[in-house]
Amino acid sequence: MSKIIAVTSGKGGTGKSSICANLGYALAKQGHRTLILELDIGLRCLDIMLGMKGNVTYDLGDVLNGTCDVYKATTVVKMASNLNFISAPSDPFAVINAQQIKSITDEIRKYYEYIIVDTSAGINENVFDITAQSDLILIVTTPDPICVRDAQMMSDEFYKRGNQKQRLIVNKVSKKLLVNGVIGNIDEIIDTVGVQLIGVIPDDSEVTLSAGKGVPLPSKSMGFLAFNAISRRIKGEDAPLAIKL
Ligand SMILES: Nc1ncnc2c1ncn2[C@@H]1O[C@H](COP(=O)(O)OP(=O)(O)OP(=O)(O)O)[C@@H](O)[C@H]1O
Ligand SMILES: [Mg+2]
Repeated sequence: MSKIIAVTSGKGGTGKSSICANLGYALAKQGHRTLILELDIGLRCLDIMLGMKGNVTYDLGDVLNGTCDVYKATTVVKMASNLNFISAPSDPFAVINAQQIKSITDEIRKYYEYIIVDTSAGINENVFDITAQSDLILIVTTPDPICVRDAQMMSDEFYKRGNQKQRLIVNKVSKKLLVNGVIGNIDEIIDTVGVQLIGVIPDDSEVTLSAGKGVPLPSKSMGFLAFNAISRRIKGEDAPLAIKL
Protein backbone atom coordinates (compact mmCIF):
# COMPACT_ATOMS: atom_id res chain seq x y z
CA MET A 1 0.00 0.00 0.00
CA SER A 2 1.34 3.40 -0.84
CA LYS A 3 1.93 6.28 1.48
CA ILE A 4 -0.16 9.30 0.47
CA ILE A 5 1.62 12.62 0.99
CA ALA A 6 -0.37 15.85 0.60
CA VAL A 7 1.54 19.06 -0.06
CA THR A 8 -0.29 22.16 1.16
CA SER A 9 0.18 25.78 2.12
CA GLY A 10 -1.97 28.62 3.40
CA LYS A 11 -0.45 31.17 1.05
CA GLY A 12 -0.07 30.68 -2.70
CA GLY A 13 3.24 30.46 -4.48
CA THR A 14 5.15 28.91 -1.59
CA GLY A 15 6.53 26.17 -3.86
CA LYS A 16 4.05 23.28 -3.43
CA SER A 17 4.10 22.18 -7.05
CA SER A 18 7.90 22.50 -7.27
CA ILE A 19 8.17 20.37 -4.15
CA CYS A 20 5.82 17.72 -5.58
CA ALA A 21 7.81 17.52 -8.82
CA ASN A 22 11.25 17.41 -7.17
CA LEU A 23 10.28 15.13 -4.32
CA GLY A 24 8.56 12.80 -6.76
CA TYR A 25 11.68 12.74 -8.90
CA ALA A 26 13.95 12.13 -5.88
CA LEU A 27 11.84 9.21 -4.61
CA ALA A 28 11.56 7.70 -8.10
CA LYS A 29 15.34 7.94 -8.59
CA GLN A 30 15.80 6.14 -5.27
CA GLY A 31 13.87 3.25 -6.82
CA HIS A 32 10.36 3.88 -5.48
CA ARG A 33 7.34 3.72 -7.76
CA THR A 34 5.84 7.17 -7.29
CA LEU A 35 2.73 8.95 -8.56
CA ILE A 36 2.05 12.67 -8.43
CA LEU A 37 -1.65 13.50 -8.38
CA GLU A 38 -2.24 17.10 -9.34
CA LEU A 39 -5.35 18.52 -7.70
CA ASP A 40 -4.86 22.22 -8.32
CA ILE A 41 -7.89 22.42 -10.63
CA GLY A 42 -7.54 24.77 -13.59
CA LEU A 43 -4.04 25.87 -12.61
CA ARG A 44 -2.09 22.84 -13.65
CA CYS A 45 1.64 23.16 -14.15
CA LEU A 46 3.19 19.78 -13.43
CA ASP A 47 3.17 18.79 -17.13
CA ILE A 48 5.65 21.64 -17.70
CA MET A 49 7.70 21.02 -14.53
CA LEU A 50 8.01 17.31 -15.32
CA GLY A 51 9.01 17.92 -18.94
CA MET A 52 5.75 16.50 -20.30
CA LYS A 53 4.14 19.60 -21.84
CA GLY A 54 2.16 18.53 -24.90
CA ASN A 55 2.39 14.87 -23.89
CA VAL A 56 -0.67 14.64 -21.66
CA THR A 57 -3.45 12.93 -23.59
CA TYR A 58 -5.97 12.43 -20.79
CA ASP A 59 -6.25 14.17 -17.42
CA LEU A 60 -8.23 13.97 -14.23
CA GLY A 61 -11.11 15.83 -15.90
CA ASP A 62 -11.47 12.93 -18.36
CA VAL A 63 -11.66 10.47 -15.47
CA LEU A 64 -14.31 12.57 -13.72
CA ASN A 65 -16.52 12.86 -16.78
CA GLY A 66 -16.13 9.20 -17.68
CA THR A 67 -14.11 9.66 -20.90
CA CYS A 68 -11.40 7.31 -19.65
CA ASP A 69 -10.31 5.32 -16.62
CA VAL A 70 -7.63 6.43 -14.18
CA TYR A 71 -4.98 4.22 -15.82
CA LYS A 72 -5.41 5.95 -19.17
CA ALA A 73 -5.10 9.33 -17.46
CA THR A 74 -1.77 8.33 -15.92
CA THR A 75 1.26 9.71 -17.75
CA VAL A 76 4.73 8.17 -17.47
CA VAL A 77 7.35 10.86 -16.87
CA LYS A 78 10.23 10.60 -19.34
CA MET A 79 12.96 11.74 -16.93
CA ALA A 80 12.23 8.87 -14.48
CA SER A 81 10.30 5.88 -15.76
CA ASN A 82 8.97 4.86 -12.33
CA LEU A 83 7.55 8.35 -11.84
CA ASN A 84 3.97 8.78 -13.09
CA PHE A 85 1.57 11.67 -12.83
CA ILE A 86 -2.07 12.50 -13.31
CA SER A 87 -2.60 16.00 -14.60
CA ALA A 88 -5.30 18.23 -13.08
CA PRO A 89 -8.32 19.04 -15.22
CA SER A 90 -7.61 21.99 -17.50
CA ASP A 91 -11.20 23.19 -16.99
CA PRO A 92 -11.04 25.78 -14.18
CA PHE A 93 -14.65 25.00 -13.27
CA ALA A 94 -14.18 21.25 -12.88
CA VAL A 95 -15.45 20.02 -9.53
CA ILE A 96 -13.91 17.15 -7.59
CA ASN A 97 -15.01 15.91 -4.21
CA ALA A 98 -13.24 13.96 -1.52
CA GLN A 99 -15.14 10.76 -2.31
CA GLN A 100 -14.04 10.84 -5.96
CA ILE A 101 -10.43 11.37 -4.92
CA LYS A 102 -10.67 8.52 -2.44
CA SER A 103 -12.03 6.10 -5.02
CA ILE A 104 -9.23 7.08 -7.42
CA THR A 105 -6.47 6.68 -4.82
CA ASP A 106 -8.05 3.44 -3.48
CA GLU A 107 -7.93 1.98 -6.97
CA ILE A 108 -4.34 2.84 -7.76
CA ARG A 109 -2.53 2.88 -4.44
CA LYS A 110 -1.49 -0.74 -4.62
CA TYR A 111 0.69 0.10 -7.63
CA TYR A 112 2.73 2.83 -5.93
CA GLU A 113 4.94 3.21 -2.90
CA TYR A 114 4.29 6.94 -2.75
CA ILE A 115 1.41 9.09 -3.99
CA ILE A 116 2.20 12.80 -3.74
CA VAL A 117 -0.82 15.08 -3.93
CA ASP A 118 -0.41 18.67 -5.09
CA THR A 119 -3.18 20.85 -3.66
CA SER A 120 -4.32 24.39 -4.26
CA ALA A 121 -3.34 27.13 -1.81
CA GLY A 122 -5.62 28.32 0.94
CA ILE A 123 -7.68 27.20 3.83
CA ASN A 124 -10.72 25.61 2.25
CA GLU A 125 -12.87 22.53 2.78
CA ASN A 126 -11.63 20.90 -0.39
CA VAL A 127 -8.04 20.89 0.83
CA PHE A 128 -9.10 19.54 4.24
CA ASP A 129 -11.13 16.76 2.59
CA ILE A 130 -8.16 15.78 0.44
CA THR A 131 -5.64 15.89 3.25
CA ALA A 132 -7.86 13.90 5.62
CA GLN A 133 -7.10 10.87 3.47
CA SER A 134 -3.33 11.29 3.50
CA ASP A 135 -0.73 9.61 5.66
CA LEU A 136 1.47 12.69 5.79
CA ILE A 137 0.72 16.39 5.29
CA LEU A 138 3.58 18.63 4.25
CA ILE A 139 2.85 22.25 5.14
CA VAL A 140 4.99 24.57 3.07
CA THR A 141 5.98 28.06 4.12
CA THR A 142 8.63 30.56 3.18
CA PRO A 143 10.40 32.67 5.84
CA ASP A 144 8.06 35.57 4.99
CA PRO A 145 6.15 36.35 8.24
CA ILE A 146 2.85 36.64 6.35
CA CYS A 147 3.39 33.23 4.87
CA VAL A 148 4.37 31.84 8.28
CA ARG A 149 1.14 33.22 9.77
CA ASP A 150 -0.90 31.45 7.06
CA ALA A 151 0.97 28.19 7.70
CA GLN A 152 0.21 28.52 11.40
CA MET A 153 -3.51 29.03 10.69
CA MET A 154 -3.51 26.04 8.39
CA SER A 155 -1.79 23.78 10.89
CA ASP A 156 -4.09 24.96 13.71
CA GLU A 157 -7.04 23.92 11.57
CA PHE A 158 -5.46 20.50 10.93
CA TYR A 159 -4.92 20.00 14.66
CA LYS A 160 -8.51 21.11 15.37
CA ARG A 161 -9.69 18.41 12.99
CA GLY A 162 -7.58 15.88 14.83
CA ASN A 163 -4.90 15.55 12.19
CA GLN A 164 -1.48 15.08 13.77
CA LYS A 165 0.37 13.85 10.70
CA GLN A 166 1.87 17.20 9.72
CA ARG A 167 5.46 18.13 8.92
CA LEU A 168 6.84 21.53 7.99
CA ILE A 169 8.94 22.50 4.98
CA VAL A 170 10.52 25.95 4.96
CA ASN A 171 11.15 26.83 1.31
CA LYS A 172 13.01 29.67 -0.44
CA VAL A 173 15.31 30.26 2.50
CA SER A 174 18.05 32.81 1.92
CA LYS A 175 20.65 34.31 4.18
CA LYS A 176 19.35 37.76 3.33
CA LEU A 177 15.85 36.96 4.55
CA LEU A 178 17.00 35.27 7.72
CA VAL A 179 19.63 37.78 8.73
CA ASN A 180 17.89 40.98 7.64
CA GLY A 181 14.30 39.87 7.79
CA VAL A 182 11.79 40.06 10.57
CA ILE A 183 12.03 36.34 11.17
CA GLY A 184 15.22 35.62 13.09
CA ASN A 185 15.81 31.96 12.36
CA ILE A 186 14.24 28.67 11.33
CA ASP A 187 13.52 27.73 14.97
CA GLU A 188 11.31 30.77 15.29
CA ILE A 189 9.35 29.66 12.23
CA ILE A 190 8.94 26.14 13.64
CA ASP A 191 7.76 27.53 16.99
CA THR A 192 5.25 29.84 15.32
CA VAL A 193 3.75 27.21 13.05
CA GLY A 194 3.92 24.53 15.74
CA VAL A 195 4.80 21.68 13.41
CA GLN A 196 7.92 19.48 13.38
CA LEU A 197 10.38 20.38 10.63
CA ILE A 198 11.12 17.88 7.87
CA GLY A 199 13.14 20.06 5.52
CA VAL A 200 14.63 23.40 4.58
CA ILE A 201 15.00 24.31 0.92
CA PRO A 202 17.24 27.20 -0.10
CA ASP A 203 16.11 29.94 -2.43
CA ASP A 204 17.77 28.52 -5.54
CA SER A 205 17.12 29.94 -9.02
CA GLU A 206 17.90 26.46 -10.40
CA VAL A 207 14.49 25.37 -9.04
CA THR A 208 12.74 27.85 -11.36
CA LEU A 209 15.07 27.23 -14.29
CA SER A 210 14.74 23.44 -14.17
CA ALA A 211 10.96 23.61 -13.75
CA GLY A 212 10.59 25.91 -16.75
CA LYS A 213 12.73 23.61 -18.90
CA GLY A 214 11.11 20.47 -17.50
CA VAL A 215 14.43 18.90 -16.55
CA PRO A 216 15.77 17.53 -13.23
CA LEU A 217 17.68 19.85 -10.93
CA PRO A 218 21.48 19.69 -11.41
CA SER A 219 22.76 17.06 -8.99
CA LYS A 220 25.15 19.48 -7.31
CA SER A 221 22.61 22.28 -6.83
CA MET A 222 21.50 23.22 -3.32
CA GLY A 223 17.91 22.55 -4.30
CA PHE A 224 18.71 18.99 -5.39
CA LEU A 225 20.52 18.25 -2.13
CA ALA A 226 17.61 19.63 -0.12
CA PHE A 227 15.01 17.53 -1.95
CA ASN A 228 17.17 14.46 -1.62
CA ALA A 229 17.42 15.02 2.14
CA ILE A 230 13.66 15.52 2.50
CA SER A 231 12.90 12.36 0.53
CA ARG A 232 15.20 10.40 2.86
CA ARG A 233 13.58 11.89 5.96
CA ILE A 234 10.17 10.91 4.60
CA LYS A 235 11.47 7.34 4.44
CA GLY A 236 12.51 7.61 8.08
CA GLU A 237 16.23 7.89 7.36
CA ASP A 238 18.40 10.20 9.40
CA ALA A 239 19.37 12.63 6.64
CA PRO A 240 20.97 16.01 7.36
CA LEU A 241 19.07 19.17 6.52
CA ALA A 242 21.57 19.75 3.70
CA ILE A 243 21.50 23.50 3.75
CA LYS A 244 24.52 25.73 3.70
CA LEU A 245 23.50 29.30 3.10
N1 LIG B 1 13.39 26.81 -3.51
C1 LIG B 1 13.06 27.68 -4.45
N2 LIG B 1 13.95 28.61 -4.89
C2 LIG B 1 13.63 29.51 -5.83
N3 LIG B 1 12.43 29.57 -6.45
C3 LIG B 1 11.49 28.68 -6.06
C4 LIG B 1 11.75 27.69 -5.06
N4 LIG B 1 10.62 26.95 -4.90
C5 LIG B 1 9.72 27.44 -5.77
N5 LIG B 1 10.23 28.48 -6.47
C6 LIG B 1 9.54 29.30 -7.49
O1 LIG B 1 8.42 29.93 -6.87
C7 LIG B 1 7.34 30.03 -7.81
C8 LIG B 1 6.10 29.35 -7.24
O2 LIG B 1 6.39 27.96 -7.13
P1 LIG B 1 5.24 26.88 -7.25
O3 LIG B 1 4.41 27.10 -8.48
O4 LIG B 1 5.87 25.57 -7.06
O5 LIG B 1 4.37 27.28 -5.98
P2 LIG B 1 2.91 26.78 -5.56
O6 LIG B 1 2.87 26.83 -4.08
O7 LIG B 1 2.61 25.49 -6.21
O8 LIG B 1 1.99 27.92 -6.18
P3 LIG B 1 0.37 27.89 -6.23
O9 LIG B 1 -0.08 28.24 -4.85
O10 LIG B 1 0.05 28.98 -7.24
O11 LIG B 1 -0.03 26.53 -6.67
C9 LIG B 1 7.84 29.40 -9.10
O12 LIG B 1 8.32 30.39 -9.94
C10 LIG B 1 8.98 28.49 -8.63
O13 LIG B 1 9.94 28.26 -9.64
MG1 LIG C 1 0.98 24.89 -7.39
